[in-house]
This record gives sequence, C-alpha cells and structure tokens, in this order.
Amino acid sequence: MSSDQQSDTAGLNQDATVLPIVRTVADLRARVSTWRSRGERVALVPTMGALHEGHLSLMREGQTLCERVVATIFVNPKQFNRAEDLQSYPSDNERDIALLTELGVDLLYMPEVEEIYPPGFQTVVSLPALSACLCGAHRPGHFDGVSTVVSKLLLQSLPDIAIFGEKDFQQLQIIRRMVRDLNIPVSIQGGATVREADGLALSSRNRLLNPEERARAVSLYRALSSAVEAIEAGEPLSSVLERAREELSKAHVTSIDYLEVREEQSLELFDAEQSKGPWRIFAAVWLGSTRIIDNLPVRVPSIRD
Ligand code: PAF
Repeated sequence: MSSDQQSDTAGLNQDATVLPIVRTVADLRARVSTWRSRGERVALVPTMGALHEGHLSLMREGQTLCERVVATIFVNPKQFNRAEDLQSYPSDNERDIALLTELGVDLLYMPEVEEIYPPGFQTVVSLPALSACLCGAHRPGHFDGVSTVVSKLLLQSLPDIAIFGEKDFQQLQIIRRMVRDLNIPVSIQGGATVREADGLALSSRNRLLNPEERARAVSLYRALSSAVEAIEAGEPLSSVLERAREELSKAHVTSIDYLEVREEQSLELFDAEQSKGPWRIFAAVWLGSTRIIDNLPVRVPSIRD
C-alpha cells in the first residue's frame, strides 16, 4: 500500500477493501492498461466530488457494464465562471472515499490542479453551437471548461465507456458530440436522473440550500412535470410555459434563467415548422445564491405551437 492510500483512507471501515487512489496520469494509465491488457473493460465516472446517490447510481451502472470502474474527483476551476461559485462548491473527500470504498469502486483518480493544467497549459476544447444556449448562455466559458477537462480525463484514462448523468443533459450532449468530433475511442453513456422522494433532482449543490430554499426547490420539478403532462395532452406550448412560470412564481421562485423546450439532439429551440423531436423541457432557477437545474423528456410525436 502506498503512503497516499494509507493517508487518504485512514479512519474508514476496516472490513471494506482499500480503495486505491492515484494522483498522476502515469499511475492512472498503468492501472487502466493492466486491466485492459487482461481483457477487462473499464468504465470511467468523472465527478467533482460531494458525491450523492446520483453519482453512486452512475458507478453502479459502470459495474454492470464493465469489470472495472474508475471514479475521478477533480473540482475543475476552468468550468466556474464566478470565483465565489468555485469557493463555495461543496467538498467532502473523506466521505466520498468512504462511499466509493463501500461500493467497491476499483480506483479513484484524484489529481491536483497542476496535473491537469501544468504551467503553460493553453488548449481549449470548445463546441460553440451546443454551448451557446441554456446553461452556456448564462455561464460564459462554463462548457469550454467542461469539454477541456473531460477530453483530458478521457485521454488520460482511455476507458471503454464513460458515464455522465442526464440531469446535466446539455453537458451530456456536448460530450457525446465532442468524442465523435475528436474520434476519442470511448462510448458515452447517460445515466437517469436520481430524485429525492418529492422529485427534486439530486445535485451536490442541494447541500447549499437552506431549509426554506429546499422547500421551495421542489417547485421546479413540479412545474416541469405538469408542463410535460400538459404538452402531452395537446395544450399549446406558449400557454404551458406561461403556466409553468406562474407556478414557479407562486412558490416564490422568481429568478428563472431559462424555461424552454428544445430538441434533444441539436438542443435547438422548439420550432413548429422545423423541429422533429424528441424534445426535452429544460429549466434553471435561482434559490437565494444557489442555482439549480432540471430537465424532463417530452414524449409526443408533435407539439402544438
Ligand atoms: O458533471 C460534473 O460533475 C462535471 O461537469 C464533470 C463532468 C465531472 C467535469 O468536471
């Protein structure tokens, strides 16, 4: 056992198998290539830590698809467009390591910032069209940071598959397009959004909500679910979206970055003349200083304008 493993896993359940932790590209590659040379398939689950059941469900999916699962924890500074957002991003490495150990994840890659962005680093991976709308329009530079770090994590680890949650649906579509454009030999899988009992989508940022904000947060899922129901019942989209905004406003959720129906593949805004579907409804709202996002599929052959 390396000194890294001893210090990073101290205090955990003694019965659980030790979770190996690597911090360098060389160590990550050595582990992954040993497994792959034995014919074992490898799933990568990139995260920024503060793990919750949504992340763990992606790890479990990896375990059903591959013999080995590698988790990464790296709070990527390049995807935070506001310094205070990076500073307040939740972090609990000890708990994360305990959860991953309990789950039987095979390896944790936890690099320092310099390992990912060494001095002189200047490459940016950018998908301008897919990044221009939704969260990209409200968080300038965010998706350039995501695409850059995810391309690096994929090329550093060279897994068979990589799994990302559908809660960040725009991110998932950007990553799918990126691996096709750059011929990165990995299959990208989406994992279903995991929700609290009342419907709130799990997110690391939920821990930043105070009890009053948490109570109001559920209105996002409720507004999106009733909008989907109404669209599927044939109600015109403009009145559905207006009602969803009213519902949010009644729950004192008044700061709405977007509430829109877009095509799943292209992420283009619904257009009665041109859109072919499938579609999704997307929203981002603020509760105090915390921004939460969610999306749901709209399963109809056509939408009324
Ligand atoms: O979804 C996230 O947690 C991050 O955007 C990701 C994919 C780990 C890249 O930093």
